[in-house]
Amino acid sequence: MDTVLEAHGLTKIFQNVTAVENLTIEVNRGEVVGFLGPNGAGKTTAVRMLCGIIAPTRGYAIVAGIRPEKEVERLHEVIGLLTETPGFYERLSAKRNLLFFGRFYKHIDAEVKTEYYLKSMGLWERRNDRVGSFSKGMKQRLALARALLHEPQVLFLDEPTAGLDPETALDVRSLVKSLRDEGRTIILCTHNLEEAELLCHRIALIKTQLLEMDTPENLRMRLFPRQLVVEMEVISRNVIETVNDLVFVQKVQQDGSHLLVEMDDIDRWRSTVIESIVQTGGKIISVQEKKHSLEEVYLKLLHEKNNSVGA
Ligand SMILES: Nc1ncnc2c1ncn2[C@@H]1O[C@H](COP(=O)(O)OP(=O)(O)OP(=O)(O)O)[C@@H](O)[C@H]1O
Ligand SMILES: [Mg+2]
Repeated sequence: MDTVLEAHGLTKIFQNVTAVENLTIEVNRGEVVGFLGPNGAGKTTAVRMLCGIIAPTRGYAIVAGIRPEKEVERLHEVIGLLTETPGFYERLSAKRNLLFFGRFYKHIDAEVKTEYYLKSMGLWERRNDRVGSFSKGMKQRLALARALLHEPQVLFLDEPTAGLDPETALDVRSLVKSLRDEGRTIILCTHNLEEAELLCHRIALIKTQLLEMDTPENLRMRLFPRQLVVEMEVISRNVIETVNDLVFVQKVQQDGSHLLVEMDDIDRWRSTVIESIVQTGGKIISVQEKKHSLEEVYLKLLHEKNNSVGA
C-alpha cells in the first residue's frame, strides 16, 4: 500500500487544554477517511497540524512526503484545504478571489481553472459579484473551488456540508464522491454520519485520542451481533420456539411483525431458518439482514469508550 499521510504521536496542548493526544494514523493513497467525534474532540486541531497551520506540541506528521511544519508552502502546493470558516476578500468578486489564490500555484493556468471550477460549482453566473454578497452556501462552494483549483491529490475537508441547504449539501456530497472516484486522498471531518457512511472507506473516531479506526463494516460487525430479520404475517409462539431450538441460533426476539434471529453465520443458515419457519406454518413476507446505521455504531462506540474511561 502507498501511504500518503501518516501521523506519529501527534499531540497538541493549548495552554492547559489537550486538544489532540498521541494521534497515530496512516492513510493510503486514494482513501477517504472520516474524522468523527463530538464537538471539541480535536478533529479540526488534528487537521490544522496535518496541514502545517499549527505546530504540534509533540509528535510529527508526513503528508505527501512532506513534514508539514517544516515546509508548509511546498505542502500547500499539493494539498487542498477547506477550513471550517473559509476567509475571502469580501470586496472582491468570486472570480478575482480565485484568480488571486490561483496565482500562487505555478503549475496551473489560474484563468482556466478558475473558469472550470466556477462553472462546476454553479457560480459562473455570479462570478463578477462581490463575495461579501454571497450566501453561506455560495461561499462554501467557492471555498471548495479554491481548495480544488490546483488539482491537489490530498484534500482536507473540514465539515464541507455544515450549514448547507439539503440540495446544496447533496451537490457537495456528489462532488466529494467524484473526487473519491478519481482516486484523491481525502480527510473528511463531519458530524453527518450518513455522509460519512456514503463517502468514507474508513472512519477514525476521535475524542482527543484516536478511539477506533476501521471500515464502517468492520466496526459494525465488531459491535453488533449479526441478525436476520424475518417479517411475517403472524408470529406464533410455535414459530419462536422452533427457531429458538435451532442449535446455531443464539437469540430470538419479536419486534412487532418482525422476528429477529441472532446468529454468527447468517449466510450458511439463512435457508434453514426459513425452512423451519415455513414447516411450522409461518407465512414469511420478507427476509433480510439487519444493518445497523453508522449512527448506532458511533453512539455505541462512544458509550463503550466513555464507560471504559470511567471504569
Ligand atoms: N487556538 C486554540 N486555543 C485554545 N484552545 C483551542 C484552540 N483551538 C482549539 N482549542 C481547543 O481544542 C479542543 C479541540 O477543538 P477542535 O476545534 O479541534 O475540535 P473539533 O473536534 O474540531 O470540534 P467541532 O466538532 O466542534 O468542530 C477544544 O477544547 C478547543 O476549545
Ligand atoms: Mg472542528
